Amino acid sequence: MYETKNDLLVDIRTRSAELLNQRLADAVDLGTQVKQAHWNVRGASFIALHELFDQVAEHVEDQVDLLAERITALGGVALGTVEVVSRTSSLRAYPLDIRDGTQHLQALSNVVADFAAKIRAAIDKTAGWGDATTSDVFTQISREVDKDLWLLEAHLDARQLGQGVGNEAAVSSAGRAARAGGGAHDH
Ligand SMILES: [Fe+2]
Repeated sequence: MYETKNDLLVDIRTRSAELLNQRLADAVDLGTQVKQAHWNVRGASFIALHELFDQVAEHVEDQVDLLAERITALGGVALGTVEVVSRTSSLRAYPLDIRDGTQHLQALSNVVADFAAKIRAAIDKTAGWGDATTSDVFTQISREVDKDLWLLEAHLDARQLGQGVGNEAAVSSAGRAARAGGGAHDH
């Protein structure tokens, strides 16, 4: 950690920076996954989904910046290279063999839901450490991610929502977070 005149205790700054870096890795990974869907989606709803996925990707790009710059404001080092992220992201790898809109919506809504749950857990965790400002950054991101999840899920009917690529991961992750009372698994 770098020296700073920020009045938060170095112990709190260190813990927050570490948690922010975990979510930063996820956000960088998520951004590439959403772009993967933006480029490769095909089918009758092509233009709607192509544009929706690009909107979500722009939001994730802003979230990456928010997370990284909160880390550096705390005196930490933001770890956002592809090399680091490929080792540290906690998100499931995006499927490369899908093409139609429903498959991409299922895969994306699952990974966005996983990310949303982990961001939400970080709100309470950082607040509990006495770092209300980092908690607020997570809250800001949470509000946008929840909205984007809604926009993705709104394209799926109830049957499609309950199944699909990567759903087991999202469900088990949400289950773990619930059991841990807000996510003891940052990784
Ligand atoms: Fe594009």
